[in-house]
Amino acid sequence: MKQRFFITGTDTDVGKTYLSVGLLNLFTSLGFTTLGLKPVASGCMRHNGHLYNLDALLLQQASSLQLSYDIINPFAFEPGIAPHLAAKQSATTLTLKKVNEALHRAFNTSVDIFLVEGAGGWHTPLNEKETMAEVVMHYQLNTILIVRIHLGCLNHAILTERAIRSSGVPLFGWIANYTTGNIENGEEQINTLKHFLSAPLLGVVNFNEDPKQKINHRIILASTSLI
Ligand SMILES: Nc1ncnc2c1ncn2[C@@H]1O[C@H](COP(=O)(O)OP(=O)(O)OP(=O)(O)O)[C@@H](O)[C@H]1O
Ligand SMILES: [Mg+2]
Repeated sequence: MKQRFFITGTDTDVGKTYLSVGLLNLFTSLGFTTLGLKPVASGCMRHNGHLYNLDALLLQQASSLQLSYDIINPFAFEPGIAPHLAAKQSATTLTLKKVNEALHRAFNTSVDIFLVEGAGGWHTPLNEKETMAEVVMHYQLNTILIVRIHLGCLNHAILTERAIRSSGVPLFGWIANYTTGNIENGEEQINTLKHFLSAPLLGVVNFNEDPKQKINHRIILASTSLI
């Protein structure tokens, strides 16, 4: 049975790609076939007339199934700004329908585990009416929330968890991630979040640690039909 995960975060730059790569490596090491997707990306580089996003390239490299770049990242924009604004600057419009259709093509691939990385946080706009959360709602993706441990993360994590739940999407678990070393009261912040977030903590990943070693795959496997 295929499993489809969505990786969201409390903000941009919280480690969604770092942990997505770690999760893809973890699943591959457990013997599953994997495919990482970054449907919407801004801040892309131009090479030979084609736009490439670093996150998408990292996900492509970490996937066990090697597919063409356009399937991994169908919507790529050059300006490093919010995707709907980058789309506008690129004289195009992002819509929920277009993103859903592109994902549908990717989901037709024969693979055990799909891992879709969001853009920014939970309610990143696709246009002036729709947000990325609606893509997750459409496909009911198992969502994993990445919380960057730093001052301010408690409010961001609680707000995001509530938004995910009110979207009616399954929140699979959360991961505490240190994108820098030496965060004051990091452990206390994580303990506080354990009280507020009802989904399980899947792991605590310290600065420069390999996520593969720190994520509790037993919780993931036991809660899905992967075993
Ligand atoms: N545990 C970690 N240890 C060391 N570096 C990390 C860790 N987590 C994230 N980073 C680094 O922090 C930066 C931001 O992480 P990342 O790119 O994964 O964030 P993101 O949430 O995917 O951002 P975006 O919203 O742009 O997609 C990257 O340079 C990444 O390598
Ligand atoms: Mg990223």
